[in-house]
Amino acid sequence: MSTHTTPSETLVARCRAARRIVVLTGAGMSAESGIPTFRDRGTGLWARFDPQTLATAEAFQRDPDMVWAWYESRRHGVSRAVPNAGHLALTALAARPQTKSLTIVTQNVDDLHERAGAQAVLHLHGSLFSPRCFDCGCEFKGLSEAASDENRQTAMRLPPPRCPACDGLIRPGVVWFGEGLPKAVWREAQREVERADLLLVIGTSGLVYSAASLPDAARRRGCHVAVLNPDASTLSDGVGLDWQVRAAVGLPALLAALDD
Ligand code: APR
Repeated sequence: MSTHTTPSETLVARCRAARRIVVLTGAGMSAESGIPTFRDRGTGLWARFDPQTLATAEAFQRDPDMVWAWYESRRHGVSRAVPNAGHLALTALAARPQTKSLTIVTQNVDDLHERAGAQAVLHLHGSLFSPRCFDCGCEFKGLSEAASDENRQTAMRLPPPRCPACDGLIRPGVVWFGEGLPKAVWREAQREVERADLLLVIGTSGLVYSAASLPDAARRRGCHVAVLNPDASTLSDGVGLDWQVRAAVGLPALLAALDD
């Protein structure tokens, strides 16, 4: 495991030779944009809540105003955040002439990859920006009118909007604990990993499946896997291309080394 702020020659060589790259990202990818991760105890309004007790359909049914307020405060935080140097480096890596394809498979529900210009982003856990009706599943387009900006930042309870089609409660468009991944998105993520010659794993603790199964699936078929994380991660195999580095430091440094 390299702990320098410059990538190993092996990682640079693997990246230079790669034509089809898949990037699996987690909350650590957005940490340097000021978005709290899940398991590093966040600060601010909601720090005392355990996301795993709020991010369930049962919690929403029990107290929709509190769960909706939690997601609205997260959406507010994302709207005020900007993509960091790591997001931008991935977009630049995808744009290199040598890169035939670069697909981002993200567990994040923010839109920072897209706002950094990423073209191929698969959201395994959904998105804060695609709410739908809890009852009939209809997409809800009225988010911007749902609550004023200030309200979203501070309110601990916010009544969710109602579905224009069936009057059901609008829920966040994220995958809750106990819910399955969006099938078509998961199948496409697996297909991309099957075709990849390099998998970059960035900013994830690797504690949540099915996403955490992708690095081993890649290794089993001989794909090179590089884990970038300032802390040790369960996804590191300890011998490969792992790099103990923050995303916003490591990815620009990797890109710079490729252009040397
Ligand atoms: N750069 C890279 N990695 C970082 C950075 C950084 N600047 N800061 C923190 N990390 C790492 C942490 O060391 C940790 O390993 O990011 C990881 C974040 O782990 P989690 O908080 O567990 O987030 P994640 O892995 O994305 O969680 C997966 O769990 O709660 C569910 O659905 C939720 O998508 C989420 C899933």
